[in-house]
Amino acid sequence: MQAVREKSDTQRGGGMFPKDFLWGTSVCSYQVEGGNDKWSDWGAWNPRAGAACDFWNRYEEYLDLAKALGTNAFRFSIEWGRVNPASNVWNLEALERYKDMALAMKKRGLEPIVTLWHFTLPKWIEAQGGWSNRDAVKHFGEYVEKTLGILGGEARYWITLNEPTIWLHHGYITGEWPPGEKYAFFRFLRARSNLVNAHKTAYALIKKARPDSIVSVAANISFDEPHRKWHPGDRFLIWAMRMFGDYGFLKETADFCDFVGLNYYFHNRVSWSWNPLRYFARTMNENRVVSDLGWEIFPSGLGKVLVELDRDFRKPVIVAENGIADAADGKRPEFIVSHINAIQDAISRGADVRGYLHWSLVDNFEWAHGFGPRFGLYGMDYKKMQPHERGSCKAFRNLIRELSQN
Ligand code: BGC
Repeated sequence: MQAVREKSDTQRGGGMFPKDFLWGTSVCSYQVEGGNDKWSDWGAWNPRAGAACDFWNRYEEYLDLAKALGTNAFRFSIEWGRVNPASNVWNLEALERYKDMALAMKKRGLEPIVTLWHFTLPKWIEAQGGWSNRDAVKHFGEYVEKTLGILGGEARYWITLNEPTIWLHHGYITGEWPPGEKYAFFRFLRARSNLVNAHKTAYALIKKARPDSIVSVAANISFDEPHRKWHPGDRFLIWAMRMFGDYGFLKETADFCDFVGLNYYFHNRVSWSWNPLRYFARTMNENRVVSDLGWEIFPSGLGKVLVELDRDFRKPVIVAENGIADAADGKRPEFIVSHINAIQDAISRGADVRGYLHWSLVDNFEWAHGFGPRFGLYGMDYKKMQPHERGSCKAFRNLIRELSQN
């Protein structure tokens, strides 16, 4: 993939998906692996993931399920605390296992896309102040180097950080996630600047170890609009949400990103409020069609965000996450079709989209919501630890088959 977007209409245009388009699913170590409570900060939190989906032991089985969808890519993450459970202590066997996972993906024709940090921190890093301590950047660099030493040869695609400002928001403003601080604006900013440096450090290390690697962050960018287009307060909020959110993070790190990793979930209409504890914002969704988590389903927003990213960054985009909490699986098939249509529409308007990774392969641990929300193409019976196929699998499989034949 060229870091700089080049328009080759022999490969795309007219809404066509490029031949080597990445069709895949995404998971995250803490949410599926199981056994991470021992070394990760979430292990001391409530709720916690416990055995999760036992992906750590059963990854071959899950990768078979991914392959059965007709996908050609798989996004997974490495649990930093598992690999580096204490200062200067390295669990190389764990890294070997991650390498085996990548090999098992390749064996099935799935391009491995590795995320280095997806929300959880080793307990010992957390005890030192986590990302608000500048030392975390150095330790992250050490962890990235060790990881590259074992896994580097097997993966070309790397996502350094997943949704950094979503994590900052929950960890330092709402307190819903570890470290559980509320309205800690100063630490929010300090940790944000350390995360920017962590990305840059990791980017340089990955490029050095593997010059042909393709590296970025996964940014959560929803489609936000002012509730009242004429209202200066509403318009200001949209700007501020962008700049303090993952979009602003991307702006700061764009020179160190080969592509844009986009996680798109929903839509917000935002209205000015005088409550500073709510960031002066109220969301005014009309809640026409929502997910089980109340998130408004708004596929055309994905198209709009893609066109906007193309205008602002001029880089290829991989949709690194997109999905819906839908236990009954009544809305997911249409959700998938409509979001992929929106991508197709954005491509026909010139956006350079190179992949779509659905969140998620299988139901998993949904952070502060525990195991309630069901994001999986495959459902999960946690008591029997048994995944089962949902109707959405067929919808996704058919779509991939149809679109990759174009
Ligand atoms: C995160 C995932 C999460 C998903 C659904 C994304 O923000 O990267 O970890 O499960 O959204 O909430």
